[in-house]
Amino acid sequence: MARNTMIITLLLFLSSYVHSSNSHETWIRAGYWDSVSELPVSDINSALFTHLVCGFSNINYSTYQIHINSSKEPHFSTFTGTVRVKNPSVKTLLSISARREGLPTFSSMIKQSSYRKSFIESSIYTERIYGFDGLDLSVGPSISINMTNLGTLFDEWRVAIASDSKKSGKSQLLLVMSASYLPAQHPVTYPIDIIKRTLDWIHLIAYDYHVPAEFDFTGAHAALYGPSNWVNTDEWIKEWLRGGLSASKLVLGLPYHGYAWTLVNPNENAIGAPSSGPGVTSDGSMGYKNIKSFIKGYGYGAAAVYNSTYVMKLFVVGSTWINFDDVESIKAKISYAKENNLSGYSVFQLSNDDNWILSRAGRLLVKISIFHFILFILMKHWTRDVSIDFE
Ligand SMILES: *[C@@H]1O[C@H](CO)[C@@H](O)[C@H](O)[C@H]1NC(C)=O
Ligand SMILES: *[C@@H]1O[C@H](CO)[C@@H](O)[C@H](O)[C@H]1NC(C)=O
Ligand SMILES: *[C@@H]1O[C@H](CO)[C@@H](O)[C@H](O)[C@H]1NC(C)=O
Ligand SMILES: *[C@@H]1O[C@H](CO)[C@@H](O)[C@H](O)[C@H]1NC(C)=O
Ligand SMILES: *[C@@H]1O[C@H](CO)[C@@H](O)[C@H](O)[C@H]1NC(C)=O
Repeated sequence: MARNTMIITLLLFLSSYVHSSNSHETWIRAGYWDSVSELPVSDINSALFTHLVCGFSNINYSTYQIHINSSKEPHFSTFTGTVRVKNPSVKTLLSISARREGLPTFSSMIKQSSYRKSFIESSIYTERIYGFDGLDLSVGPSISINMTNLGTLFDEWRVAIASDSKKSGKSQLLLVMSASYLPAQHPVTYPIDIIKRTLDWIHLIAYDYHVPAEFDFTGAHAALYGPSNWVNTDEWIKEWLRGGLSASKLVLGLPYHGYAWTLVNPNENAIGAPSSGPGVTSDGSMGYKNIKSFIKGYGYGAAAVYNSTYVMKLFVVGSTWINFDDVESIKAKISYAKENNLSGYSVFQLSNDDNWILSRAGRLLVKISIFHFILFILMKHWTRDVSIDFE
């Protein structure tokens, strides 16, 4: 009897555990594939992800319709079918870039009701013919974007998505925004109240904060924490929460790249040390894979050092200063996302991973709950065959 009581207690514990972890929405593990990379879509290890984002499409400057470059079109139109070979349940999103060259077109599109209509209709049409499950709009808090108009776009977009679902009988397309952080642009802030009711979630572009082409001193480009005079992700997330957004709308962006700086004086190599500009590449950006082989090239003894204050890896040799994320910092950031009840993470971008090492780092952390789940099923199965006496 005592043994049965123990089993029941254990079962109750496990079932409450399994239940509570399943009552949240799915833990999002999203990955960006960028068509400018050399990674063939068929090589994507889609089993490691719940969502894959295909980037990037643009907006035509005269029709305000979605434009996909003809050289990329064959990859976009077959994207969903290809990634589903290895993971039939993976969801796909088409990313629309409203940054850099795309910004002027986007900011004029959102000002006019007829332009917005043309954009929204074309976005839904494109999703449906290519078989994507949703849309990801990549847009910064730029001063050239009128945030009232952006809010109007989101409201109209959600209405159109709901109506499309009603007409087609298919489930609603996902609507996601990729947001970036520019504290210098305050008080320009995203329209949080409208975001709450219209978007499924937000990909936080939690990187590229401090880059060598823009600053003449070294800095962490993707710091999770840091002193208040440094931009960091934790501070940004707290700003969203103070603004009234719930943590469950936030998905943490993880960079698969870092930045190299050239130090003015090799002996002065702390964070904030003077820099004469980018190192190694023209803008200093380097994929994880390349950083690893760069470090290896220095031979025995060369190693990057983990800095837990900022949650990043640092490699300094001579006048080269590189900060980046590796398995250790990626794991720390995913744990942070879990502890703070975010909805998951999204990695940028897949071709910079090294044999899926970083992508697997996220998988290990969820294994425990799957293990508990299997244990639960086994025990449930086993106890069905024993008679349990309650006394
Ligand atoms: C945008 O649309 C116009 C009108 O259909 C077309 O002439 C132009 O080539 C398009 N631009 C691009 C970049 O495709
Ligand atoms: C399409 O992509 C090719 C190759 O990336 C590029 O050379 C070309 O300029 C692009 N065309 C347009 C209209 O953006
Ligand atoms: C933003 O757009 C709204 C509505 O079109 C307008 O009332 C407001 O003045 C605009 N704000 C700025 C800063 O231009
Ligand atoms: C991280 O780097 C900063 C600045 O260089 C330094 O002050 C701090 O002690 C480092 N933290 C760790 C844990 O190494
Ligand atoms: C996350 O959610 C759990 C369960 O609802 C709660 O106990 C915990 O305080 C939350 N964590 C944060 C940082 O809000």
